[in-house]
Amino acid sequence: MIGNADPTIDIGRRLARAEPTQQLARRWEDKLVDWLLSDQAFKTQAFRLVDVYPALRSTADRFDHLYSYLHVQAAPGLVRTGLRLASKSGLGRRVAVQILDASISRMARRFIAGSTPEEALPTLSDLWSQGTAPILDLLGEVTVTDRDADRYGTRVEEYLTSVASRMAAWPPQDHLVTDHHGLLPRLAVAIKPTALSARYHPLSADVGIAEAATRIRPILRSAIRHDVFIWFDMEYYAVRDLTVRLFKLLLEEPEFARVNAGIVVQAYLRDSMSQLEDIVEFAASRPHPIGVRLVKGAYWDTETVEAAAHGWPSPVYAEKSETDANFEACTSVLNAAYQVLRPAYASHNLRSVANAIADAQRKSLPENALEFQMLYGMGDDLRRATNQLGMRTRFYAPVGELIPGMAYLVRRLLENTSNESFLRQSRSHEELDELLAPPRPKAIS
Ligand code: FAD
Ligand code: 2OP
Repeated sequence: MIGNADPTIDIGRRLARAEPTQQLARRWEDKLVDWLLSDQAFKTQAFRLVDVYPALRSTADRFDHLYSYLHVQAAPGLVRTGLRLASKSGLGRRVAVQILDASISRMARRFIAGSTPEEALPTLSDLWSQGTAPILDLLGEVTVTDRDADRYGTRVEEYLTSVASRMAAWPPQDHLVTDHHGLLPRLAVAIKPTALSARYHPLSADVGIAEAATRIRPILRSAIRHDVFIWFDMEYYAVRDLTVRLFKLLLEEPEFARVNAGIVVQAYLRDSMSQLEDIVEFAASRPHPIGVRLVKGAYWDTETVEAAAHGWPSPVYAEKSETDANFEACTSVLNAAYQVLRPAYASHNLRSVANAIADAQRKSLPENALEFQMLYGMGDDLRRATNQLGMRTRFYAPVGELIPGMAYLVRRLLENTSNESFLRQSRSHEELDELLAPPRPKAIS
C-alpha cells in the first residue's frame, strides 16, 4: 500500500475502513434528532424539557410542560402542528405524552447500560466477548446530605463487588488484561468525587476532601481485594484541584501504594498542560504506575455559561480547534511518559485517536501501552475499529435510574447534537480527509 506522508492520516483511514456496525435504525434516529434540533432556540427549549420531564408525574402535567416548552416559534412546523392537534383531545394529549415518554426511555437505554448492575450484566458480557472491557459508573451526582454521600459510597462498593465476582467467571481476553507494565484488572470502576461529600467545593475544600477520602478508602480496599481499577473522574473546573489533591493524598497512603487507580486530564482547560506535567511528575515518584485518561471535557457549556455570568475569564478554550490541538499536544506528553504511567485516550474522534496511535508509533511505544476508551452508546464504529486493529479498548458503562442519571444524559445529548461534535460532523457526510485534517486554531494559523 502506498502510504500517506502523514501516518495519522494513514491510521485514520485504516480505522475508518474497519467494518462498521449495521445500526441503520440508530443512524436514522441520529439524523432525525439533528434535523429536529437544528434551530438553537428550539434546542434550548428541548433540553429544558428533558431536564424537568422525568420529575413530572401525571400525564396532564407532562403534556402541559411539553406544550409550553415546545410549542414555540422556533419549533419545526411539524412539531407545532402535532402539538396543536394533540391539545384538542384527551386521547391526543395521552398519545403525545406516550411518544415523548418512549423517546426519553429510548435515549436513556442508548446511553445507560442498565438501571442495576444485574440488568447491565448481559450487555457487559456481550461487549466483553467482542473484546471490550467495562468501566462501570454508578449514576448520581447530586449529593446534598451526608446520607446521600454514604449511600453513594456503599453502593459503589456493592456494585464493584458483585460485578467483579461475576466477571471472574468470564472467558479470558488476554489482550484486555495486559499492558506494558504487566497485568491489568478485568473490571474498572469510575467514581465522581463530588458525590462522596456534600462539602466538596472550593470554599470547604479541606473538609470536603477529608470526607470524600473517608468514603473512598473502603472502595479502594475492595478494589485491591477484588482486583479492580478505580478511575477518579474529573468534573467541573471549580473542583479540579480538589480532585487532584484527593487522588494524591489517597495514593500516597502506604496501604494504597500498589492500588490500580487513575486520574483524568481535560484538554479543553487552558491550564491542562501544566496539570498533566504535574501528574506525570507524581507518577514518576511512585513505585506502581497510575492511569492517566486524556479527555476533552464534558462540561464545556456549563463552564462557558458560568464564567460569562460571573464575568470571569473562562477556564476552557473558546474554539473547538484549540481544544483539539491541545489534546494532541497533551497526547505527545502523555505518550512520552508511558514508562511511569498507563496512558488512556477517551475520545470518539477519529483524528484524535489516530493521532495518539501515530504519535505512539513515532515514539516506539510497545503496542499494548495505550488504552482507548469510549462511552456506551457513542462511537461504536470507532470502538470496533480500534478492536480490529488489536488496540485495548474499554467502554464506560453508566448504571442507574433515569432521574439520578439525567445530568449524565443531558451531557451526552449536548455532545451528540453540538455542531462542533466530531460524531455529528461525521454524520453530515464531511469528507474523510477533512475529518482527519490536523486541528488549526485561528489564534495560531
Ligand atoms: P469531539 O467532538 O472531538 O470533541 C467534543 C469536545 O470538544 C466537547 O466535549 C468539548 O470538550 C470540546 N468542545 C466543544 N466545543 C468547543 C468549543 N467551542 N471550544 C472549545 N472546546 C470545545 N469528560 C470529563 O470532563 N471528565 C471525565 O472524567 C470524562 N471521562 C470520560 C470517559 C470516557 C471513557 C469517555 C469516552 C469520555 C469521557 N469524558 C469525560 C467526556 C469527554 O470529555 C468528551 O466530552 C467526549 O468524549 C467528547 O469528546 P470527543 O473527543 O469524543 O469528541
Ligand atoms: C461524564 O460523566 C463521562 O465523566 C463523563 O459526563
